[in-house]
Amino acid sequence: MSAANDKSTAPRLHIENVYKRYGGRTVLDNIDLSVTKGELCIVVGPSGCGKSTLLRIVVGQEQTSAGDVMIDGEPVALPDASRGIVYQKYSLYPHLTALENVLLGKILEYPFYRRRSAIEAHRDEAMELLTRARIAEHAGKYPNELSGGMQQRVAIAQTLIKRPRIVLMDEPFGALDAGVREDMQVLLLELWEAYGMTVFFVTHDLEEAVYLGTRVLVLSQYYTDDRGPAAGPARGAKIVADHALPRRAMPTVAKSAPEFTELVMQIRHEGFDPAYLRHVRDFNLEHPDAFQTLTPEEDGHAVSGAESSSPSSPGRETSAPSPPGRNASSPSPPGRGLG
Ligand SMILES: Nc1ncnc2c1ncn2[C@@H]1O[C@H](COP(=O)(O)OP(=O)(O)O)[C@@H](O)[C@H]1O
Ligand SMILES: [Mg+2]
Repeated sequence: MSAANDKSTAPRLHIENVYKRYGGRTVLDNIDLSVTKGELCIVVGPSGCGKSTLLRIVVGQEQTSAGDVMIDGEPVALPDASRGIVYQKYSLYPHLTALENVLLGKILEYPFYRRRSAIEAHRDEAMELLTRARIAEHAGKYPNELSGGMQQRVAIAQTLIKRPRIVLMDEPFGALDAGVREDMQVLLLELWEAYGMTVFFVTHDLEEAVYLGTRVLVLSQYYTDDRGPAAGPARGAKIVADHALPRRAMPTVAKSAPEFTELVMQIRHEGFDPAYLRHVRDFNLEHPDAFQTLTPEEDGHAVSGAESSSPSSPGRETSAPSPPGRNASSPSPPGRGLG
């Protein structure tokens, strides 16, 4: 049984050989990704590259066209409490108070006849979460009495009360003003440290990505492979870079450090520049959990290389993940580390 299938040692999230096609168009093109518990994993990439699609696949709202998606070694099915999601637009019910909205996240798991007692059973827990989210004093207010940032605090508490194994966030702070947005980033780091959360967070804001992430994944359609230029329009996005960052929350002043700005610029270059096309063999997959399962078509060079050096070789691996730490095709990049 492989590590991905053994439930005791399985990564929190494991994605392998995942494709997503809409009609004849490939959006996600052979995605491989393994996420360890406790990681604050950020996905960035050009608009329309498939970030939200990938997140919806993890939630179970969207089917893959091919490939495996597993949480703790079990294939994902329909959306459930194991995967909590926070969207950019608030998921709060206007006729319920902040506290009732948080409680709602929990009591929907109960059958109707037990909901009244469930409310009492979880009231303290809901208040504790509102306190952690620094919104407890507004527990009795309705959403229209709260600012956008306050509503997102409640939405996060509403997700966390379900104790999800992975918290998924799609541009959760995208609608907020800069100052409020920074407060929310600090809050997320506090909650991540307090609860040991595993987070999968999509953003198009590179400063936000580098500030928050213990890991920054760059999803992009700008790359080349041995399928050649003809594959261009039909070809979908891949993870072209996978950065390991320090596992600790930083004060916001870290955003002005030169290493910080350099890494932001490097990521912009790697994933957002249509003129910069790295070959699949040269992706910047520095994170120890990174692995890549290229098909012979994507990596034709490796097949002919294997044939010439070892005629009996079965050729390129197409499904087995590399062991952690091994990625033959990625040189050590310069842009790691923030101090
Ligand atoms: N239900 C759908 N049907 C057809 N095309 C879709 C659907 N959902 C997303 N797409 C297309 O897939 C691509 C990726 O979309 P999306 O995941 O929203 O990108 P991102 O979040 O990176 O901006 C886009 O070109 C989008 O038009
Ligand atoms: Mg999106």
